[in-house]
Amino acid sequence: MHDPSIVFLNHGSFGGCPREVLAAQDVIRARMEAEPVRFFVEELQGLMDKTRDAVAGFVDCDWDDLAFLPNATTGVAVALENIGLKPGDEILANDHEYPACLNNARRIAERAGAKVVIPRLPWPVPLDRGEQSVIDAILAGVTQRTRVALISHVTSPSGLVMPIEKLTAAFKARGILTLIDGAHAPGMVEGLSIRKLDPDFYTANCHKWVCSPKGSALLYVRKALQKNFRPLVLSNNAELPKTGRSQFLTEFDYIGTSDYSAILAIPAAISSMSAMLPSGFAAVMRHNRDLTLRARRLITEAIGSTPVAPESMIGSIASIFLPPRGDGAPPSTRPPTSRYGDSLQERLIDRWKIQVPVWGVPGTPQRVLRISAQLYNSFEQYEYLLHALRHELAAEHL
Ligand SMILES: Cc1ncc(COP(=O)(O)O)c(C=O)c1O
Repeated sequence: MHDPSIVFLNHGSFGGCPREVLAAQDVIRARMEAEPVRFFVEELQGLMDKTRDAVAGFVDCDWDDLAFLPNATTGVAVALENIGLKPGDEILANDHEYPACLNNARRIAERAGAKVVIPRLPWPVPLDRGEQSVIDAILAGVTQRTRVALISHVTSPSGLVMPIEKLTAAFKARGILTLIDGAHAPGMVEGLSIRKLDPDFYTANCHKWVCSPKGSALLYVRKALQKNFRPLVLSNNAELPKTGRSQFLTEFDYIGTSDYSAILAIPAAISSMSAMLPSGFAAVMRHNRDLTLRARRLITEAIGSTPVAPESMIGSIASIFLPPRGDGAPPSTRPPTSRYGDSLQERLIDRWKIQVPVWGVPGTPQRVLRISAQLYNSFEQYEYLLHALRHELAAEHL
C-alpha cells in the first residue's frame, strides 16, 4: 500500500500490511456490520479462538494462554497492573526500553510506592562479548527488591536482539518475574518459542513483522498466573456465569465494543507472509535479516562508523552511529518543536523522499540512524540512502 514516491526504510515503527490481508480484514468487517448482534454475541468468541490457534502455532505456546490486545504498550501496562506491586518493590528495566512502556512502568510503580530501576547498557555493545556485556549490565541492577524484569526482545531505539533466553533463565533462578516486550519479535526473530523461553508474561505486536493490520497484539500469561489476571477495563463479560472457559479468556475476548477485525486478520497475515517466499515465513525472516546486515555493513563502512553491536545481536532493524549533529545538540528521541526529533530526518524525507528515523538512545550522546528491511526493500535503496546521507552530513558542517 506504500506511497510509491517514498523510499520507505522504517518498517520497524508501524509495520506495513499487504493488500490481501487488508482484504481479509474487510471480509471480517463486513460480517460484523451485516449483523452486529450476532457477530458480537454469538460469533466473536469462536473467531477469537480460531485466531488464537493460528497465533499459538506461530509463537509456540498453548492456545489458551494467549489474550489479544490493540498493541504492545497495552500488553506491558496490563501485565504490570496485574502483578500487584507493593511498596519498596522494584521493576528492573534498562535504558533501551521503549519510552511508552517505561511511562506505564513509572506510573504503576509510583502508585504502588515501588520504583523503576534503569541500568545503562554498554553502548556501543562490545563486539567480542556482546551478549554477556548486556546480561552483566542488566543483572547488575538486580536487588533483593526486584520483583519483575521488563526487557525488550528486540530493542526499539537501538535495534538489539537481546539474549532473552539467558536473561529469562537468570531472572527465574533469582525468583524474579519476567515481562518480555516482544513488540518486534514475531516475524523477525526466527524460531521464536514462548514455550521454550518460558517467561511469565510475553507481549508482542503482530502489526510490525507479521504484517497484520494495526491494532493486533498478543499477551501470553503463564497459566499459573492467569487466575485474577484481568484487563485494564472490565466489560459485561466480567459478570458472565461461570462456564468451563477460563475467566482470563472470557474477559480478554471482549473488552467492550471495538473493531476486533485487525486481531481476527492475524491468521491471514501469517498465511500471506508465509506464501511470499517458497520456503515460508522463516525464509522471509532470513531474507530481511540478510538485507539488514548488508545495508548496515555498506553504510557503517562508508561513513567510517563504529558498529553498535555484533551481527549476532541484529535482526531486521539495525542502528548505525552518525556523526554528531551539525548544531552540536544531543540526539533527540522526541520532537519538541519539529516534526521529527532530528532535522536530518526531516531533510531525508523532504529532499530525498527517504523515510528513516534519526534519533538516539535516551541519555546517550550518540546520534543513530535506524534502518529496517522488509521484502519490499532493495539493496539499491540503501545505496541511495548512503548517497543522500553523504550530502546531508557534509552540508551539516558547512
Ligand atoms: C520495543 C517496543 N516496545 C513497545 C512498542 C510499542 O508498540 P505500540 O505502539 O504498538 O504499543 C514498540 C513500538 O515501536 C517497540 O518497539
